[in-house]
Amino acid sequence: MLEDTSFAIHPGKEQQSGPVVYRDIGRLINYEVKENAYQINCENGNVVIQFYTDSIVRIVMNQKEQPKLNGSRAVVAEPGIVSIHETNQDEELILSTAKIELNITKEPFRLTMFDGQGREIIAEGDRGMAYRENGEVVAFKRMHDTDHFYGFGEKAGHLDKRGESYEMWNSDVYAPHNPETDPLYESIPYFMTLRDGKAHGVFFDNTFRTKFDMKTSNDYYSFSAEGGQLDYYIMAGPEPKAVLQQYTHLTGRIPLPPKWSLGYHQSRYSYETEQEVRDLAKNFVEKDIPVDVIHLDIHYMNGYRVFTFDNERFPNPEKLIADLREMGIRVVPIVDPGVKKDAEYPIYQEGVNQDQFCKYIEGETYFGEVWPGISAFPDFTDEKTRKWWGEKHEFYTNMGIEGVWNDMNEPAVFNETKTMDVNVMHRNDGEPTTHRELHNVYGLLMGKATYEGMKEQLHGKRPFLLTRAGYAGVQRYASVWTGDNRSFWEHLQMSLPMVMNLGLSGVAFTGPDVGGFAHDTNAELLTRWTQVGAFTPFFRNHSAIGFRYQEPWQFGEKHEEIMKKYIKMRYEWMPQLYSLFYEASQKGLPVMRPLLMEYPEDAKTYNLNDQFMIGDNVVLAPILQPSITDRVVYLPKGDWVEFSTGVNYEGEKTHLIHAELDELPIFVRKGSAIMQGEWISNKDKTPKQVSMNVYAGISGESYRFTYYDDDGETFAYENGQFLELDIEVVSTKNAVEITVVDQQGAFKPAYQEIKLHVIGLNEDQDVIINGEKKTTIQL
Ligand code: GLC
Repeated sequence: MLEDTSFAIHPGKEQQSGPVVYRDIGRLINYEVKENAYQINCENGNVVIQFYTDSIVRIVMNQKEQPKLNGSRAVVAEPGIVSIHETNQDEELILSTAKIELNITKEPFRLTMFDGQGREIIAEGDRGMAYRENGEVVAFKRMHDTDHFYGFGEKAGHLDKRGESYEMWNSDVYAPHNPETDPLYESIPYFMTLRDGKAHGVFFDNTFRTKFDMKTSNDYYSFSAEGGQLDYYIMAGPEPKAVLQQYTHLTGRIPLPPKWSLGYHQSRYSYETEQEVRDLAKNFVEKDIPVDVIHLDIHYMNGYRVFTFDNERFPNPEKLIADLREMGIRVVPIVDPGVKKDAEYPIYQEGVNQDQFCKYIEGETYFGEVWPGISAFPDFTDEKTRKWWGEKHEFYTNMGIEGVWNDMNEPAVFNETKTMDVNVMHRNDGEPTTHRELHNVYGLLMGKATYEGMKEQLHGKRPFLLTRAGYAGVQRYASVWTGDNRSFWEHLQMSLPMVMNLGLSGVAFTGPDVGGFAHDTNAELLTRWTQVGAFTPFFRNHSAIGFRYQEPWQFGEKHEEIMKKYIKMRYEWMPQLYSLFYEASQKGLPVMRPLLMEYPEDAKTYNLNDQFMIGDNVVLAPILQPSITDRVVYLPKGDWVEFSTGVNYEGEKTHLIHAELDELPIFVRKGSAIMQGEWISNKDKTPKQVSMNVYAGISGESYRFTYYDDDGETFAYENGQFLELDIEVVSTKNAVEITVVDQQGAFKPAYQEIKLHVIGLNEDQDVIINGEKKTTIQL
């Protein structure tokens, strides 16, 4: 293609277009308060301001009509009852809550938002909210020299997005994934700004193709959309964690995942026969390498027809699933949206007869080519279709399947635009709307249909869903993997900021294909990647057809042993990880997080791409380059202990750390604690012993955390069947005191006590548990 040659930079290639002319929203004419919202008429359009909490405000501009306030596919919260103090003066209107002040100058209409201390959060200057004749809407906001930008969902490149611009348009990108490759599969039009240690967020709830520009100017940034309303929420923070809580208050939090989905997943495009899958499972069991899930990629189907098995390759899927389940392994099949156009295929027949497929306004079905050939696509924007699709999953759940993998749901189509015709008219629950507007939510709504259908069918068991495409709020239904990466060290490196920014965008359950999907992996890369994978929220090894197999044993015994050690470590850390997933489900905080989330005052963390944290007290600094066994590690404030060696390191300093191929540098903050379980076997993954490693401090520091456990697979926790311990650790010169401040829930785990290990205890220190000298916490 010409675009792939130097022609791409031919001077005469692009027609020069005229200057972009925006029409400003103009002067504020009048306003009234109706249904808890400020309805404002301006010279060139209308604005509504709504308060969701005293820290979250929504602004909607519509240049043509009264702003529409309902119909978001992302937001699940309603505006709250917020007490607002209003001051109306000649030149400005001031609306303040207990936490923020919104200052609106009237001529022209410009917004400035301050926090309770009078610090500017958002401000507009010469430019504010505007639109173009072609329907594009845009908001310009002031950018400060000290602003750093994070979030934006799944984006390549570094952690800090200052100086970048991004587009949101769910896209199937097989190759390349470069720092400049944009957009990718997910659209999360949300970001967090960190300015001088304080954070705020903006969520631009617009499902058209949107753009975020932090590049064009040093004085302002902008966000814009091809159409629709300028509908956005400002979240006042002020800590990064508060911003995320506010954002997930709006768009929802992850459901507590089944524990098995937090284990190790093995995948391949494809394990092509029942026998191959059985051999694979047997290998894991015999080698005692932990595995919870084996994925079935597209070859399991009959001609890539969803809701079928190929009877030759997989003669008895029920038995396969049951036998693997017996071994402690679950099967997760891939389900793509494209339904093969085949008059003899019952799903296609039903889809046509029940009118479930996407159509043009004139009534013709939209067809596109994907794996099965010419296919039709369910119209997930309509409740009727979501229900139908959800119900179809009985095919899988009746076989004992509890998890599904949604792919190609951008939707991907093998054509020039890579997707569905933007002129397709979706039914959209009674409000017909083009694909141009709803493209970015197609995957989200497929996820909703799938998750809700399976939840219904699993009778109290938690479903697991993995998705490639999504929109803001996708975390409510699915975990997200970052698509078709390659077996390059650069892709391992890039996966860290990508997963961290996804975490900062509300998607706590995410990870890349470990080992790399396309290209041939190698022993060292796979080993280092497996070490990282053991601590990314989603942990799946997946590789593509035509490339080297990359199961943990493919590169000889030495590497197998190391990978096994780290996959086991995943299970040893499960009590800690599960507690963090619980936190994610409660507060929206990511499991894997950048250091800036915990240390927003520390500028050294602002663009730290090659280290990450698990929770608030563990720093990981993996080796991300070939042939390297030493690396620089920055440790933030506090004192730190290396997990594997017990060696102490000072915080707010950079250290040179040695890590042979079998070592992953992990540091735990002194004065804090981590929960550890044990690996038993593939068949029995429930630890009978759980321990608490306390890293003794000396300086009077106190640390508080929540330990959470339950049966790991049902919703019984919703009825009190859980164990929640609120634990405080206080280290003084004479003692390390551990106190269970609060205990909730009726769940009785397989262990009756939590054993204590205190690391770095000095001679003068006693260990005190709940006021007594003991070494266990009795449950
Ligand atoms: C897409 C997916 C990949 C999958 C393949 C075949 O490329 O991203 O994970 O293996 O399709 O289904």
